[in-house]
Amino acid sequence: MSYVYMKVLESAPARYDRGMQILTLGRLERVKRDVTSRVTAGEAVLDLGCGTGALAARLARKGAQVTAVDTSPAMLEQAAGRLRQEGLASRVVLRELGVAELDAFEEESFGAVTSTLLFSELSDDEIDYALAECRRLLRPGGRLLVADEVLPGSAWGRLLTFLLRLPFVVLAFVLTQTTTHRVRDLEGRIARAGFHVLEVSSYLGGTLQLVVAE
Ligand SMILES: C[S@@+](CC[C@H](N)C(=O)[O-])C[C@H]1O[C@@H](n2cnc3c(N)ncnc32)[C@H](O)[C@@H]1O
Repeated sequence: MSYVYMKVLESAPARYDRGMQILTLGRLERVKRDVTSRVTAGEAVLDLGCGTGALAARLARKGAQVTAVDTSPAMLEQAAGRLRQEGLASRVVLRELGVAELDAFEEESFGAVTSTLLFSELSDDEIDYALAECRRLLRPGGRLLVADEVLPGSAWGRLLTFLLRLPFVVLAFVLTQTTTHRVRDLEGRIARAGFHVLEVSSYLGGTLQLVVAE
């Protein structure tokens, strides 16, 4: 299974949700459900790289005050349509903003920061910057919830997933001129950024991880 194909889906936001549902055998929805279950009603939540707004909508339904950011106007348009349709538009603030622009927010503005399948699209420097900004933006006791595709720990696991991903990498690059990479040592990176890791959940044979930290 490869998430590289998601780059192709991102170029067609209207088909993104259905495509990701199939591609992840429904596990991405489960991840979003698990993220939402760790957020409380009334909490101010920042969703980074919100895409079509599926997680933002779930969080808003739970009663969170959601700010959702993304760099893609097409994705944000899709998110706005979804939120309107579900009657949640007044409960989510959507902003066209990248992780490099998080200084737009005051420090300690949020009780939780969430991010699903964004870090695999960022460079190492961007990930480190985003994590440092998350620390600044979180209130004391606030939680970081990051889910992404990760690089398996064993050499055999890495070789196998490399071979499985290769055709998708080529296809995605030909169609979108972009690609993604599995995040190496997601848990360790989050810990090194100064967070205390509370739990790590694995999905899809350990290729997808949710890290909860504070
Ligand atoms: C694979 S999609 C994931 C969308 C959504 N979080 C989900 O789980 O379905 C990655 C999203 O990150 C956005 N993105 C990529 N680089 C970004 C950046 N530097 N800052 C914010 N969003 C970014 C893309 O536009 C895309 O919507």
